[in-house]
Amino acid sequence: PVAPVIMAGGSGTRLWPLSRAGFPKQFLVLSGDQSLFQQAVRRLQGLGGGDIELSAPLVVGNDEHRFLVLEQLREIRCEPAAVLLEPAGRNTAPALTLAALQALEGGADPVLVVTPADQTVADAAAFTAAVQQAVRMAADGAIVILGITPDRPETGYGYIRADGATVAQFVEKPDAATAQRYLETGGYYWNSGMFVLRASAWMSALERFRPDIAAATRTAFAARGIDERFVRPGREAFAAVPSESVDYAVMERCPGSGLALRMVPLDAGWNDLGAWDAVWQVAAKDEQGNAVVGDAIVADSRNTLVHATSRLVGVVGLDDVVVVETPDAVLVSRRDCSQDVKKIVARLHGDE
Ligand code: GDD
Ligand code: MG
Repeated sequence: PVAPVIMAGGSGTRLWPLSRAGFPKQFLVLSGDQSLFQQAVRRLQGLGGGDIELSAPLVVGNDEHRFLVLEQLREIRCEPAAVLLEPAGRNTAPALTLAALQALEGGADPVLVVTPADQTVADAAAFTAAVQQAVRMAADGAIVILGITPDRPETGYGYIRADGATVAQFVEKPDAATAQRYLETGGYYWNSGMFVLRASAWMSALERFRPDIAAATRTAFAARGIDERFVRPGREAFAAVPSESVDYAVMERCPGSGLALRMVPLDAGWNDLGAWDAVWQVAAKDEQGNAVVGDAIVADSRNTLVHATSRLVGVVGLDDVVVVETPDAVLVSRRDCSQDVKKIVARLHGDE
């Protein structure tokens, strides 16, 4: 069987002030009429049929958002196999490990189709075809990444150098000069953040590269409490799990290690709505390139995004800017600085 895994526990700080701790971006409706989380679930439901025997999805999220998760699943009539609830975010490597351990319960070793909850994909048929190909490759034990052809030197992504179907190099979030060089060199893809692999393949890769994360997450999973569909790892044990992303913990270390890391190109109108710049990229725009959501008047400006939620916003003579208004906070940023919005949130939390 093939088991969808949706990682939905991120905080989405780069989309502040619309994205908040209690209501992070994956649960917001930022494009279309469903939230990004709902779009991710629906996209994976579309994989069934043909030669894929699809099981119900595993959702991994933060305990704080359990009602948002349940309510949004109910809205799209999805019955999850389990909702794994983290008492605190430990990034995606422990999240995927919880899903893999849950999937391995009962003795099966399903192929997991792992997806973030913060993306849009325009072409469902092309997505399905790429994932089906990846599932066939992963059945033999390979870790398969869906790769995107880059069109700009984005620094918020992982970069993959592919040699045929083999990943020769994986670099997570390079600096701007490095990303620019990759684009000029050619042969590089973005990591879509979607992985296809057997649950056992993930566990053995993690045991090899980060045995500390594997052991600590196993301990937390063993101490779990089960409440209908909710599965809660032991609170104290999970707090002791090192925080790391899938990309740093495993993917970067695979090339050259003898572990098979493969890539299937995905040409399906993929977009990660990671930061305001990406929201502007996918938004409907006027002839001057301005995207306006809500009550706003924009004059003598170009390539600017204005998102107003509760008041009238006026913008004059500002190019390449993002303005986001909410009842209690307003963001004004250069569009090319939108990755750094997380600095504001860090200061709000007193981290900097
Ligand atoms: N359950 C859970 N727990 N989910 C999490 C956690 C966590 O602690 N942290 C993040 N997530 C979820 C987010 O909600 C999101 O759906 C997904 O995991 C990816 O996390 P991000 O924080 O959005 O990662 P990123 O965008 O910086 O980078 C990743 O995605 C890029 C493409 O969108 C990496 O995989 C990059 O290499 C990749 O290019
Ligand atoms: Mg992201």
